[in-house]
Amino acid sequence: MIPAGDGPLLPARIRRALGTGRFGRRVYYFPETESTNTAAARLARAGEDEGTLVVSDRQTRGRGRLDHEWWSAEGRDLLFTVILRPGLSAGALLPVTLVFAAAAAATLSERLCVDVAVKWPNDVLAGGGKIAGVLAEASSGTGQPAFVVVGTGVNVNSVPDDFPRALRGLVSTCRQATGREWDRAALLASLLAAMEARYDHFLREGFAGLRRDYEELLAASGRRVSFERDGRRVTATVEGVGDDGGLRVRTLPGGADLVLYSEEVTVET
Ligand code: BTN
Repeated sequence: MIPAGDGPLLPARIRRALGTGRFGRRVYYFPETESTNTAAARLARAGEDEGTLVVSDRQTRGRGRLDHEWWSAEGRDLLFTVILRPGLSAGALLPVTLVFAAAAAATLSERLCVDVAVKWPNDVLAGGGKIAGVLAEASSGTGQPAFVVVGTGVNVNSVPDDFPRALRGLVSTCRQATGREWDRAALLASLLAAMEARYDHFLREGFAGLRRDYEELLAASGRRVSFERDGRRVTATVEGVGDDGGLRVRTLPGGADLVLYSEEVTVET
């Protein structure tokens, strides 16, 4: 019952709410940072363990997939990153993004009691707009990445009017979708529990067993989408996702089966 301004996301407050095994057992809180993913990568390079959590109340250069900017309202939203050491090759990491996006979507649906969907691979949609996003970044260098940082942004107690004008029609927030404010620490604890459970499942059994879960949330299932390939716009229908996390589509016309990995996909209306 914290709201009424909510207050900073101090580690003690997060720890009181946590019910996880290792996600968030060690917490770094920054009132302001460039990006929690950047801060987490720095900590991972210095040897921090899997599960270490970085949280901030303000990012000065928050980022999303494909170099998009991630905007958030100071002290009102959730900005956090978990350090992972999955011991997988870079090519086997795409499902991590989908696993975290599905965990965020399932948690928001359960807690907020609203319809939630995912837009492949990393966007979470609810209340008529984007409510959350996930950005997974692997360490660079040769061979298997030493770590992956997975950052999540959730629009919680902000309202669309807080956002830059260009984003207002595209975003949604928990407060807007439900008409009330949320205790960010409690929401964070629920998100981390769902993320840890799904990530552990992924480590044990791979993505195959989680694929259906993700496909059930997929907003574009069976719908017409378009994307850029070899310099031209291609239209296709969405068939589902593969065990490697790629988006399976069938082109229109022509019916060629393709798998997308890094494209920006637009859902046609
Ligand atoms: C996207 O929309 O493409 C993903 C957005 C991910 C935003 C989160 S906020 C916490 C973490 N830090 C960042 O700079 N990005 C992620």
